[in-house]
Amino acid sequence: MKHIVVLTGAGMSAESGINTFRDADGLWEGHDVMEVATPEGFAANPELVLDFYNKRRQQLFDVTPNAAHFDLAELEKNFKVSIITQNVDDLHERAGSTTVIHLHGELLKVRSTRDVNDIQEWKTDLVLGDVCEKGYQLRPHIVWFGEDVPMIEKAVTICETADILMIIGTSMQVYPAASLMHYVPENTPTYFIDPKPNVESKQNLTVIADVATVGVRKAIEDFGV
Ligand code: APR
Repeated sequence: MKHIVVLTGAGMSAESGINTFRDADGLWEGHDVMEVATPEGFAANPELVLDFYNKRRQQLFDVTPNAAHFDLAELEKNFKVSIITQNVDDLHERAGSTTVIHLHGELLKVRSTRDVNDIQEWKTDLVLGDVCEKGYQLRPHIVWFGEDVPMIEKAVTICETADILMIIGTSMQVYPAASLMHYVPENTPTYFIDPKPNVESKQNLTVIADVATVGVRKAIEDFGV
């Protein structure tokens, strides 16, 4: 079976109703990213940051996967599919994709502020005073700016065995995620799907300047299944 590696960003979930990061004047749901997505922001105002992610977590219960999420899940009938997402929602999983790596963490998990590996599932609001078993405050399981990206090595290994690469709905501005496209074998057919595509040229690159629900289908038609 051919191995399709799919890199997804915020544009993947845009048609499900989750706002992207950089399409709204550099603000994320009305907040400066440095205020809500850095360790310094959390230290300065933990309540605001917890509340911000509580709202994002609550939103997950109001949204559903879109047709592009389902099309990617369906691809597993004919291909080995690995999804590497920058998104912290669970829409790929809810659409039925079985191999999903979350580079930037997950809204439905929290972790100890003391131990990056002490992670637990969490579906409700997280408040000051919610602690791990060892008594340390819990925080969102989100990779903030300036923090390590623990899943990056696993993601690189997956990319190294790609037969086809799809990149969907990302502005390619955040590293190391944006560098992953360079780890696929030379000449790997690559499809970049984004209405405002921003991608370096590369061998065997097909740019599809469409929204995800349209562009993913066009790419799949090209695979000839
Ligand atoms: N379908 C496909 N792509 C879309 C759609 C759509 N319906 N709507 C918008 N887009 C594209 C935009 O053109 C843009 O290129 O999605 C991209 C969104 O870019 P960003 O908002 O920068 O999101 P992303 O690339 O995922 O950001 C990376 O930045 O703030 C951090 O950690 C956060 O994971 C995030 C990372």
